[in-house]
Amino acid sequence: MPARRRPVAVLISGRGSNLQALIDDAAAPDCPYEIVLVISNRPGAYGLERAKQAGIAALTIDHKTHPDRETFDAALHDALIASGSDIVCLAGFMRILTPGFVSKWEGRMLNIHPSLLPKYKGVDTHARALAAGDETHGCSVHYVTAELDDGPVIAQAEIPVLDGDTPDTLAERVLEVEHRLYPQALRKAALDL
Ligand code: GRF
Repeated sequence: MPARRRPVAVLISGRGSNLQALIDDAAAPDCPYEIVLVISNRPGAYGLERAKQAGIAALTIDHKTHPDRETFDAALHDALIASGSDIVCLAGFMRILTPGFVSKWEGRMLNIHPSLLPKYKGVDTHARALAAGDETHGCSVHYVTAELDDGPVIAQAEIPVLDGDTPDTLAERVLEVEHRLYPQALRKAALDL
């Protein structure tokens, strides 16, 4: 058991399968992090249920009840500070964060993106990889900076694009490697902090 497990908060918007991969990894006795809080910006996100089932504090901060991004991000920041988190993981969190918020968590906020960055920042990554005729595709975990899907890459996982792949089949296989990559990258970030 490491001397101190780094407290981590995970921000989600939806199903939370990457959150689940982190929850499962944190159950290992040698894991250098623990998940202390899950926040969703969408009420009813299935990931909130996963947190509750694992006995992790879970709350909704609904962006729709905040007048602007600054107010929403301030509420997020307050909740993160109250939780004592050292690291924030974005896991399918579908909100753009303000530069002010990002700078407060610089070097301590991670994101998982379904492409081999710097390729295909933004949305529809699987369709874009197919349209470009790429032979390989994958996912990246990176530190978050003010630019969308930018920032230093911590780890990447690559898979072959197969004949007959559709955006859905490719997404499914990338998701499998995401679930292995995110825990590895978070372990590294926790140990490096
Ligand atoms: C993942 O593909 C992740 O890379 C992207 O959003 C998706 C989230 O899936 N940022 P889940 O909510 O973790 O299941």
